[in-house]
Amino acid sequence: MRIQPLTQGAIIDVAEWEFDAEFAVFPQGARAKEAVFSPAESPESFIVPNKRYLFKRSKRSYPDQFWGEIIAYRVGCLLGVPVPPAFIAWNSKTGHCAALIEWFYTDGKELFVLGGDLLQHIQTGFDRKTGQQHNMQDIILLMRTLAQNKALRTGWRQWWVDALLFDALIGNTDRHQDNWGLVFDLDSGSLSPLFDNGTSLGHERFPSRVHNWHEQEYRRYISAGTHHVKWSLEQPLLNGHRALLEKVLTEWPETKDIAYARLNFSHSELSDSIEDLLSIHVQVPLTRERMSFVLSLLTRRHLFLRSLF
Ligand SMILES: Nc1ncnc2c1ncn2[C@@H]1O[C@H](COP(=O)(O)OP(=O)(O)O)[C@@H](O)[C@H]1O
Ligand SMILES: [Mg+2]
Repeated sequence: MRIQPLTQGAIIDVAEWEFDAEFAVFPQGARAKEAVFSPAESPESFIVPNKRYLFKRSKRSYPDQFWGEIIAYRVGCLLGVPVPPAFIAWNSKTGHCAALIEWFYTDGKELFVLGGDLLQHIQTGFDRKTGQQHNMQDIILLMRTLAQNKALRTGWRQWWVDALLFDALIGNTDRHQDNWGLVFDLDSGSLSPLFDNGTSLGHERFPSRVHNWHEQEYRRYISAGTHHVKWSLEQPLLNGHRALLEKVLTEWPETKDIAYARLNFSHSELSDSIEDLLSIHVQVPLTRERMSFVLSLLTRRHLFLRSLF
């Protein structure tokens, strides 16, 4: 079930990569990012030639946030859940460091539609800015409609359980309506890989402030994280990542076996899967302290998620 991650030995420099002028007009998203095209002669075997990549920087206030996208990719591989491959890169002309994230669809052959674009048709007055109405009942209606019309290939119940499981494990609070979507070709559509995973893994906490956290602080922090999506408009947001996951597993018990099997890894396998990132030389490195905090969160969340089954 696991996916073999693409790994790198050294940082990638995108200074000579072609800049995608069209991407600058994309209205989506909050973090500084550009799109770039890999060269025809690929510098590394894991870089697809002539492919668009997102060069996604950190929010100014959290300089090492971009590491979250890369760690999340590795965690996705461990779970066997598709996440676009993410690497560490910099631009030697500007000095910027960022996550370099592989584009997950092919221009001209496929069309990517954001969840929010579709949900707007189901819920009139859907507030795209706040995402207050983002809820599973509308999503279920949308998924059913697409599946009945043979416009959806993905087993959507399992996809949603896996997505909510992944987000609960990394502590992602930002899977809003425009952080998932569907990729359509001429025949039908599939739910997208899980992109935009950086609002997670305790990125907003500084290692110097959390190094002496006790169990109680971890417990409080972890239980405060919730999924963005509600179960229904009528119900208030369920408290904690755990609650919504429990809800969907109860609703769709047929998804349980796969979800549980995804969590079948040890804590040393988890740390082994990201350990190599420490030795990549970069201006904004992944420090041992950051790594240790990330692993403390992941191992605790892993334990509580396993206890759900
Ligand atoms: N790997 C990718 N492949 C294709 N499109 C992507 C990819 N990552 C992001 N996008 C597109 O770019 C938009 C902004 O990227 P995102 O990672 O969501 O940034 P932000 O954190 O600023 O919201 C997304 O809503 C999506 O439309
Ligand atoms: Mg986003």
